[in-house]
Amino acid sequence: MPVVAELEVTIDSVGAQGDGIAETPQGRVFVPFTVPGDRVRLRTDGERGELLDLLAPSPQRVGPACAHFGDCGGCDLQHWQTAEVLAWKRQQVEVTLAHRGLTTEIAASVATPPRERRRARLALRRVAPGGAHSRDGDQMLLGFHARQSHRIVDVQQCPVLNDRLAAALLALRQLGPMLLRRDGEIALEVTDTEGGIDLVIERAGDPGSTLRSELARFAAQHRFARISWRGEQDSELIAMLAAPVIRFGGVPVELPAGAFVQASPTAEAALLAEVRIAATGAKRIADLYAGCGAFALPLAAQAAVHAVEGHAESAKALEKAARQAVARVTVEHRDLDRRPLQGDELKKLDLVVLDPPRAGARVQCEALARSKVPTIAYVSCNPATFARDARLLVDGGYRLEKVVPVDQFLWSAHVELVAVLRR
Ligand SMILES: C[S@@+](CC[C@H](N)C(=O)[O-])C[C@H]1O[C@@H](n2cnc3c(N)ncnc32)[C@H](O)[C@@H]1O
Repeated sequence: MPVVAELEVTIDSVGAQGDGIAETPQGRVFVPFTVPGDRVRLRTDGERGELLDLLAPSPQRVGPACAHFGDCGGCDLQHWQTAEVLAWKRQQVEVTLAHRGLTTEIAASVATPPRERRRARLALRRVAPGGAHSRDGDQMLLGFHARQSHRIVDVQQCPVLNDRLAAALLALRQLGPMLLRRDGEIALEVTDTEGGIDLVIERAGDPGSTLRSELARFAAQHRFARISWRGEQDSELIAMLAAPVIRFGGVPVELPAGAFVQASPTAEAALLAEVRIAATGAKRIADLYAGCGAFALPLAAQAAVHAVEGHAESAKALEKAARQAVARVTVEHRDLDRRPLQGDELKKLDLVVLDPPRAGARVQCEALARSKVPTIAYVSCNPATFARDARLLVDGGYRLEKVVPVDQFLWSAHVELVAVLRR
């Protein structure tokens, strides 16, 4: 049986999940919502600590930007000064690289502003208003799950979302009675596009004709660009009132339902700026894990780009956009984990851009480590898999020249980066 103890401690540092760390005689205790310098009283039964009282706040502590902070699981770090959060994210990158024996120049973290997130995954739940047996006027809960919980925090305002997504919360709540029985829950994926909100409803089964019509009316009433229904496998178009377009390098791309887009335009611009610097003088570029062309299309202004993407619909959307804009982009639909670019395919390239999902690009990096490609620009949403892959590349003869941390997910513990490696 773990022993429950109450302690008074000072927080020393912040761990990888964004929780304050106190070094106690019983060992390390992780305390959510604390910052270095906080004097706190806590309850602990081992490694996890629960904040009971803030006895003396640290000078690094600030008031949160949102009334839901602490309850909503969307944000972890609103109580910490921005400059400290940015320095901590940089340090996370440094420590993760050091674990793999890698050192390099690490730039200051690039900040992103509030009210800018252009995509979000929300949970919608229908519950009884007061007590499980009440029949009148069910309540709709829309928002993010509480930390490590299935409970939805009903979000009335969100300083992370951009204004159009924040304004859409009110309308999205109205979908509850249409889509849900009492105690039912679904996921809603929303992306803000030039044509308006692009909504993907994630739910198994066929919507049926009545619901299809209701959803089409909803789209028209609230001027959503598109509504899609994603079952177990494919997504079905329910209504499209305007093309859900995002521009990359000025080229309009009609996004497939649920396709990847960088969450923050400021972060996307920062990542692209570093990729562009790495691309200086390059004539032939491969953009791997290209998505809908966030890097391929802007880079086509300076070089011939071969874009490779594993999601068939995204590859198709990018190919169509490139063709219409007469951009110098060729597109290949290919699974890079099973069939990485190698040998002769890599021989002719001046630069490879990599932007894999969280799992990283191990197999592709093994092939690159054997290649003579002079420069690699690696965009990563997971410093741990990046460090693993960078180690492979460095062992293959690359020099890790520079890493720029990017705070794409404001107030979360999530760390992203862009790095340049050269032979
Ligand atoms: C982090 S996103 C980057 C997309 C794009 N570079 C951007 O910035 O918008 C990763 C992309 O890799 C694609 N992907 C995931 N696994 C893949 C694989 N095994 N082979 C090729 N592409 C893959 C995903 O579909 C997604 O579009």
